Amino acid sequence: MAEFVPVAPFDLVIFGGTGDLAQRKLLPALFHRDSDGQFSDDSRIVAVSRGEMEHAAYVDWVREALIGRIDGEFDEKVWSRFAQRLHHVQLDLADGDDWSALAAPLDAEGRRTRVFYLATAPSLFGTVAGRLDAAGLVDANARIVLEKPVGHDFDSARAINDAVGAVFDESQIYRIDHYLGKETVQNVLALRFGNSLFEPLWARGAVDHVQITVAEDIGVGQRFDFYQRTGALRDMVQNHMLQLLCMVAMEAPASMHHDDIRNEKIKVMRALKPITAEGVDRVSVRGRYTAGIVDREPVAGYAEEGGTRDAPAEADTETFVALKAEIDNWRWNGTPFYLRTGKRMARKLSEIVFQFKPVPHSIFGEQPLEPNRLVLSLQPEEGVQLTLMTKEPGPGGFRMRSLPLNLNFPDAFSVTYPDAYERLLMEVLRGNPALFMRRDEIEAAWQWIDRIIDSWASRGVRTHEYMAGSWGPTDSFVLLDRDGRRWAQPV
Ligand code: BG6
Repeated sequence: MAEFVPVAPFDLVIFGGTGDLAQRKLLPALFHRDSDGQFSDDSRIVAVSRGEMEHAAYVDWVREALIGRIDGEFDEKVWSRFAQRLHHVQLDLADGDDWSALAAPLDAEGRRTRVFYLATAPSLFGTVAGRLDAAGLVDANARIVLEKPVGHDFDSARAINDAVGAVFDESQIYRIDHYLGKETVQNVLALRFGNSLFEPLWARGAVDHVQITVAEDIGVGQRFDFYQRTGALRDMVQNHMLQLLCMVAMEAPASMHHDDIRNEKIKVMRALKPITAEGVDRVSVRGRYTAGIVDREPVAGYAEEGGTRDAPAEADTETFVALKAEIDNWRWNGTPFYLRTGKRMARKLSEIVFQFKPVPHSIFGEQPLEPNRLVLSLQPEEGVQLTLMTKEPGPGGFRMRSLPLNLNFPDAFSVTYPDAYERLLMEVLRGNPALFMRRDEIEAAWQWIDRIIDSWASRGVRTHEYMAGSWGPTDSFVLLDRDGRRWAQPV
């Protein structure tokens, strides 16, 4: 079993401490790390929320939140240690409450790392940073974590970055994109830069195109209003998908130092060819799910989720988007990156597929040859597959077949994979921002996305319907078909 090294003592303040993210992700992640012995006895977790809550009631609430979300048996010994760390402070963030109550549970002598985790609406990020400063709570050891989305477009992102940046130095700001905490995304670095095999092939000469798919089987559910304002382009592409694209397309960083990695990612972001109004119809598809069947259960369409079956809501926000992205640099010129993400698709699947060029000439006559594919699977299985053409065994002639070389990480390592938030929280506590987005990355991503949104608006690009449980609207298949290509899934 892996040996874990404890992190330096900390005070972790969670704004939105009784919210959905704290309940589903942050508290279970912290509990898991505590059970592996990574927290010193004097480390504390302070939840801030608007509602009044007695200490005992808060502790009970956390216990409830953890039970059922913890992998394996609920360990009472770990729980009694964890419960000791918990504090609750009532504050209305939008109101001018007295913030001195927040100072009480924090270490006044600066011996503990101080982390402020903002699991709140982004409109509050600047306000909270300012109030923390005014209350004298920001010391040299302080760090601030911003949940996504940082802004709604370039201007709002810049305003947030300015407001938070007026109080915290860039090196103290951790902007979350939880995809960067996923094991396979990190493994992209190991695979690319720990093996010499791929590098000569990782470029336009050998790669025909790249596909990045993040398909979800869930719908928007209770988040209809959020989705109406946001849409899949802002919710999934601006952050998760562009981060995946940068990780696979960037040049080799000089080292694993956070700025070396982020400097390479930003170069990719800046080389993305702008999608303009003239070409937008040919390189982008917006989709919206209608009622259908997912996992053998009938499910409602997006518009009905926002209203009722008889009176569906007015809805033209995309729950699906497919794009042809092009990177204007030496390595990738002429090799498109097709991106596709959607809710209520046939199944949950996140993968990055490198499709290599076909052989220049086949010596096997009429026998079809499949081009090689390198598939980096993120979800639900984490692993790497390389498809190769092989000869079918037997004396009955020379028949070719495509077969995968398969590396399944959970089988290879026999470990349970931690949730992305466990890794990300630990990186914040250790003070390593490599897995977080730097200001310039977020802003460059918004600039690219804003162009697409403006182009959609100016051309009146509407959503195409797709049935829940399918792989998206027909037009997303046409997008590749037009280039003589097809999506790797469905096979
Ligand atoms: C979030 C999006 O950032 O990522 C959600 O806001 C989406 O809409 C989620 O469902 C997907 O994350 P994961 O880890 O389940 O792929």
